[in-house]
Amino acid sequence: MKILILGNGGREHAIAWKLNAFSHEVFIHPGNAGTIKEGFPSFGTLTSPKEIASVAKEKNIALIIIGPEQLLAEDYASTFRNLGFWVVGPAREAAKLETSKIFSKEFMVRAGVPTAHFTVYDNLDSFQRDLISFTYPTVLKLDGLAAGKGVTIAKNRQQAIAFAENVWVEQSFGPLPQRVLVEEFIAGVELSYLGFCDGNTFLPLSSSTDFKRVFDFDEGPNTGGMGAVSPSPHLTVELEAQITRTIVAPILNTLIQEKIEFRGILYIGIMIDNHKTPFVLEFNTRFGDPETQSLLMRLDSDLLPTLMATAKGELAKAPILKWREETSIYVVGATAGYPENPVLGSEITGLDSISPDTQVFLGGVAASSHGLVTAGGRVLGVGALGCTISEAREKAYRRLRQISWKGMHYRTDIGL
Ligand code: AMP
Ligand code: GLY
Repeated sequence: MKILILGNGGREHAIAWKLNAFSHEVFIHPGNAGTIKEGFPSFGTLTSPKEIASVAKEKNIALIIIGPEQLLAEDYASTFRNLGFWVVGPAREAAKLETSKIFSKEFMVRAGVPTAHFTVYDNLDSFQRDLISFTYPTVLKLDGLAAGKGVTIAKNRQQAIAFAENVWVEQSFGPLPQRVLVEEFIAGVELSYLGFCDGNTFLPLSSSTDFKRVFDFDEGPNTGGMGAVSPSPHLTVELEAQITRTIVAPILNTLIQEKIEFRGILYIGIMIDNHKTPFVLEFNTRFGDPETQSLLMRLDSDLLPTLMATAKGELAKAPILKWREETSIYVVGATAGYPENPVLGSEITGLDSISPDTQVFLGGVAASSHGLVTAGGRVLGVGALGCTISEAREKAYRRLRQISWKGMHYRTDIGL
């Protein structure tokens, strides 16, 4: 069966790599110069879902997997479904679980899943009126999509005001109206719990933990994710049972009750607080990047039957996925200046060397007369498997050190 993956990052490369290992023919659109070089053809520069669908029909593609949230927000999923494709990715209404943080918090409240208390503001005056009552640190979130930049943890009143002014006065996140959530800060450790979901059944992938800040030991601004480890060192059997009972079951009940059709990946971002209680921080309605790369390093089964079962709404009948016992580590190499001002166009060297049990996934790269150059913040990443975290770390970092470009930086503490 022929499969089309939409997107251009390391996540899309990893999904294609895993499908290809089971001899499925995979296209990635638009992909990047690296994924094309790896043998995953692109459709070129097409952007409209109708044009993409028409080329997909010509090529006999049956299944479309939507990578980035932006395409879900633009309802590519419904366009493709209406044209007769099987699709992994929810329609716009259901994708609001990711694209609107307020919609998603209100859904969590109706479902009764544990989540941080919050208040919604739609203008600077009411925000300033309440400022005196905030306790710090406090979490401030823009309602809409902001490429990972819409969340700030304010340590004091000045930082809270600065965020609010950014939103409503400078309008750095786009024109008004804008809404902001002010949320109780929960201290703890984070877990990314991803599953296939068809609206009735949730089939978890293995667990992972993402390293979101740009610098070692969680310093610096948030990014899309600088690395991941799978399985998550924070997940125990007891905790997973609790997540199933207090989070997954009520989510499914509410999806069913409210007739929200969801066929895609539901990514539940969880904070496990210091009393070991899991709280939902956010939903994403797609594969996470870089969690997917670390997860798929450990998957031993063919992904296609589960993806098809998701698209068809038949997950209850899907085969059990087999995961390797080993740990995997995924470390992202970023461009100079990432995340604020990524420097593009630097020549990348060292991609040709080989080391066992590692895999390079290409994201922000483009072709030039010298070979591949940097073309995005998160350029590429290295995944590695090991019997222990330290063995996986050693393999991943050894491979990553062979690769370089001007100003390349990466975290050295992934998995620690
Ligand atoms: P979100 O996009 O909502 O997941 O937020 C991005 C990151 O901000 C999360 O991965 C957490 O590290 C942090 N964060 C979000 N909400 C909270 C919260 N209520 N308490 C503590 N940290 C949070
Ligand atoms: N790694 C977090 C995300 O995919 O949004």
